[in-house]
Amino acid sequence: MDGLMEVAKQHDLRVIEDCAQSFGAEYRGRKTGTFGDFGCYSFFPSKNLGGYGDGGMVITDTEKSAERLRSLRNHGSRVRYYHDEVGFNSRLDELQAAIIRIKFKHIDEYNAKRRNNAALYSGYFAGSGITTPSEQTGTKHVFHQYTIRVRQRDAVKKKLDEGNVTASMIYYPVPLHLQAAYRNLGMKPGRLPVAEQVAHEVLSLPMYPELTDEQIRIVVEAVKKAQ
Ligand SMILES: Cc1ncc(COP(=O)(O)O)c(C=O)c1O
Repeated sequence: MDGLMEVAKQHDLRVIEDCAQSFGAEYRGRKTGTFGDFGCYSFFPSKNLGGYGDGGMVITDTEKSAERLRSLRNHGSRVRYYHDEVGFNSRLDELQAAIIRIKFKHIDEYNAKRRNNAALYSGYFAGSGITTPSEQTGTKHVFHQYTIRVRQRDAVKKKLDEGNVTASMIYYPVPLHLQAAYRNLGMKPGRLPVAEQVAHEVLSLPMYPELTDEQIRIVVEAVKKAQ
């Protein structure tokens, strides 16, 4: 973030942070989402602060931007039935808000449990040759996903699916520059080799606060056997 913010400052750019997977994560003691001009969060049910349906939040630290966002989410309206611009219907529905408000009180505890589960996973994988996620000095990972890298990823996943670990997932199989939606950019395979290699090797293992030590051991053993 230091480097990004420096470049943004030099060129007078706005920074929008995608914090969909990092609610509660920290960089040098500051929460993600508070560095840029805007921080965007997702409350999709699978997220570490998830509702029971779609939802999200944008944070900002200027009143002017906050006011514009409030208007945009409500069809560009500041005064009921008077529309200053074309906005969206992006209001968080009351039911989701009620659920998220309750879960929000527990998010630090949920994230701490995820961190503990990640430490257990990494400990059990030590010496296995499997690349486990790392946490850089001065950062606090919240392990929305616990993602390993394995060379024969597709074969490993197939064996897990056929066995008793059916909840591993590939986040994400196609890097952004090769998505059909961005075909117009003209990017061919090989253009971003690191992203492409990672997309072939990543495998996210079951991760949620309530996972038990026993379950983690079972997953680790299954992965080691499958590789
Ligand atoms: C990193 C990242 N950004 C953005 C999104 C999109 O979130 P939503 O579907 O709530 O708009 C997701 C969710 O899948 C995500 O994981």
